[in-house]
Amino acid sequence: MNSITSKIQELKKEKDAVILAHYYTEENVQALADYVGDSYYLSKIATKVPNRIIVFCGVSFMGESAKILNPEKTVLMPDALADCPMAHMAKIENIQSVKNKYKDLAVVCYINSTAEIKAYSDVCVTSSNALKIIKKLSQKNIYFIPDANLGRYVAQFLPDKNFIFNDGYCHVHTGITAEAVKWARNIHTDAKVLAHPECTWDVLTLADYVGSTSGIIEYATTHEGEFIICTEPGILYKLKQKNPNKVFHLVGEGKSCIDMKKITLQKVADTLEKMQHQVELDETLRQKAFYALERMLELAE
Ligand code: 13P
Ligand code: SF4
Repeated sequence: MNSITSKIQELKKEKDAVILAHYYTEENVQALADYVGDSYYLSKIATKVPNRIIVFCGVSFMGESAKILNPEKTVLMPDALADCPMAHMAKIENIQSVKNKYKDLAVVCYINSTAEIKAYSDVCVTSSNALKIIKKLSQKNIYFIPDANLGRYVAQFLPDKNFIFNDGYCHVHTGITAEAVKWARNIHTDAKVLAHPECTWDVLTLADYVGSTSGIIEYATTHEGEFIICTEPGILYKLKQKNPNKVFHLVGEGKSCIDMKKITLQKVADTLEKMQHQVELDETLRQKAFYALERMLELAE
């Protein structure tokens, strides 16, 4: 164990902390974390861990969600500036005007969103549970925010619902082009294409499997062959760990999520040592946002 890792282990014990990390963080961060997963798994596990302090190695909406669900706990973000741009891509005034326009409406909010956006929503979803949850909603009209690509992907399976889309997107996933996927497929002719639903429709129509980061890992682990991976490169760490003998090809240049990559071991040590970058939320806002997240946890069961 190197010195920074042992320092973090000591701090964790001393302060009663647990470390959660998303699959897109750096390999050494994932290797150190107590729990690594997709955004649904991490939000769920955050409600189950007994520790007083949660160190969230991910972007701000993830730490915020952990705090919304666990107000009595201290949630620390190793880098206070690690933020998901898509989380800000829905406007409250648009939510209000869609609510005014449609009567039988559910505002469905991708977990990649700010606490304020969640507070104006009826239910949260992640890429791994969106279809399951929206299917259970009684409302005919679904305003899906902020991600248009995930919204369109889910909508194709629910023809009885009327989806209204917003124009949010992930710059990492929309950077993966259909041309790059076709090029990879021409070279690796037997490889299966596995894509995250934040990718564009053109990419998703080329995929053999579409799913969340956990879904992609599960698919690759339970199927034979080579795989063309259409998501953020951080996923390769777990893919290779679980499947050391399989071959994975990243599409294009494998553009990284710069925000996820802001998390370093030094910052994990610093946040714990100095108790800095604690997630703080106005209690009224937290309670409003809690409703949508709690509903997600209920409906996803
Ligand atoms: P997952 O729900 O698959 O973890 O996706 C989160 C994310 O930010 C994808 O860009
Ligand atoms: Fe946000 Fe995209 Fe990064 Fe996910 S990969 S955190 S959606 S910018």
